[in-house]
Amino acid sequence: MIHPPILLRTISDLRANTASWHSEGLTVGMIPTMGALHDGHLALVTEARRRVDRIVATIFVNPAQFAPTEDFGAYPRTEASDVEMLAALGVEAVFAPAAREMYPEGHATTISVAGPALGLETDFRPHFFTGVATVVGKLLIGGFPDIAMFGEKDYQQLLVVRQMVADLHLPTEIVGLPTVREADGLALSSRNAYLSAEERRTAARLPAVLQQTATAIRSGTDAAEACATGRAALEAAGFRPDYLELRNSETLAAPIPCSSEPLRLLVAAWLGKTRLIDNIAV
Ligand code: PAJ
Repeated sequence: MIHPPILLRTISDLRANTASWHSEGLTVGMIPTMGALHDGHLALVTEARRRVDRIVATIFVNPAQFAPTEDFGAYPRTEASDVEMLAALGVEAVFAPAAREMYPEGHATTISVAGPALGLETDFRPHFFTGVATVVGKLLIGGFPDIAMFGEKDYQQLLVVRQMVADLHLPTEIVGLPTVREADGLALSSRNAYLSAEERRTAARLPAVLQQTATAIRSGTDAAEACATGRAALEAAGFRPDYLELRNSETLAAPIPCSSEPLRLLVAAWLGKTRLIDNIAV
């Protein structure tokens, strides 16, 4: 029989819930999400299930990480079916606060990360990582989990969260997990729901171009040249790329030519009204 998760709406209930698990000697994993759950999110839950005794998933469409021009209003909100999916995986608690619980009147504190937050997404969404770091910081401080799961799909976000947790000495281990993809290679994303049928077919070109560009770089093509070719291929397919860049996979600094540092290729591109991001190891 499936037990529905406990539904928590306030930070004080979240805190009390974890405290009672910890007092029983149980370990706790948190999975922060904005809901509209898909198999990418569920892979994080499945891995947490392997690692900890109790799981709290969070569902909160965080207004602080959307600019006024972005899709905060349109972002899919499917709490009831999300909770059902989490119940089927045996998740014990869901924290789904209202915006005023996370940001009460007069809220005046933000967490601003430099380092891995510089460049890439920040060049196009300058508000974004402060919004993410602030809400994830508040969730981790509110729920003090032993581990928290994040996807490599949002690779820069994963590194920003790791940096924030290290700098604030938060006692949570950040676990990063590989991107879950559709059969044609497209990374699962709640925003894929915005794509028309035709755009959905085109969208598979994004991971294909990433792979081609990574292969070219591995076989010795100059990175700037390979990325320019990749951007042109995306434009030819109907995308408007924001960036396609090679970076150090641990710091996201620009790579040093001819060094043997670990590398990551990251892309963001618009297809119609939908902005898609992806990345792969090189
Ligand atoms: P959201 O987009 O809902 O993603 C929640 C978590 O699921 C993130 O860690 C994200 O990287 C991971 N994820 C999404 N798609 C994935 C895929 N295809 N494969 C593997 N993991 C995937 O990212 C956010 O929400 C928010 O910024 C949040 C961290 C919750 C802060 O508001």
